[in-house]
Amino acid sequence: MDVRFAIVTCSSTRSYEEDTAGAALEERIRANGWTPLGRVVVPDDRARIGDAIIEAAAEGADIVLTCGGSGLSQADVTPEATADVCERNVPGIAEAMRATSLKVTGRAMLSRAVCMQRGSTLVVNLPGSLKAATECFDAVYEQFEHAVQMTAGGGH
Ligand code: MTE
Repeated sequence: MDVRFAIVTCSSTRSYEEDTAGAALEERIRANGWTPLGRVVVPDDRARIGDAIIEAAAEGADIVLTCGGSGLSQADVTPEATADVCERNVPGIAEAMRATSLKVTGRAMLSRAVCMQRGSTLVVNLPGSLKAATECFDAVYEQFEHAVQMTAGGGH
């Protein structure tokens, strides 16, 4: 089945061309036969990130992957921006990413990533580096189709 994705990279220092993590996520989406609707780079600004999520959901994204801004720096506001515009928490996805990543690096415990639903759109916070973003994507992507089916009212 098709799954429509939007990628929102959250970085005040990275340009679209420099966003190798976002580009790698886009490549993985295509490799699975899914549709990347678009990729944007927005600064570490809570309102701007929230607006980008709202826009992606309105454009019909089943899943919005945010990339970056989920660490401990005071500039990192992606989880807060996600919570601003979403209603329901889906904690298991973030738990799975951290559990898998902890086997690679203890630094995974420094992730504040959240996964939440805005209506029928699932928002998944991924870390910002190419390595971390792809490791976290790889930890959870096999459940994406089932997540979208269940969101649409399908059973198991
Ligand atoms: N997850 C994996 N798989 N690999 C990593 O190297 N880095 C961690 C964590 N998750 C990491 C990881 C670190 S150091 C931080 S600060 C958080 O992700 C948040 O990253 P972000 O601020 O780029 O979003």
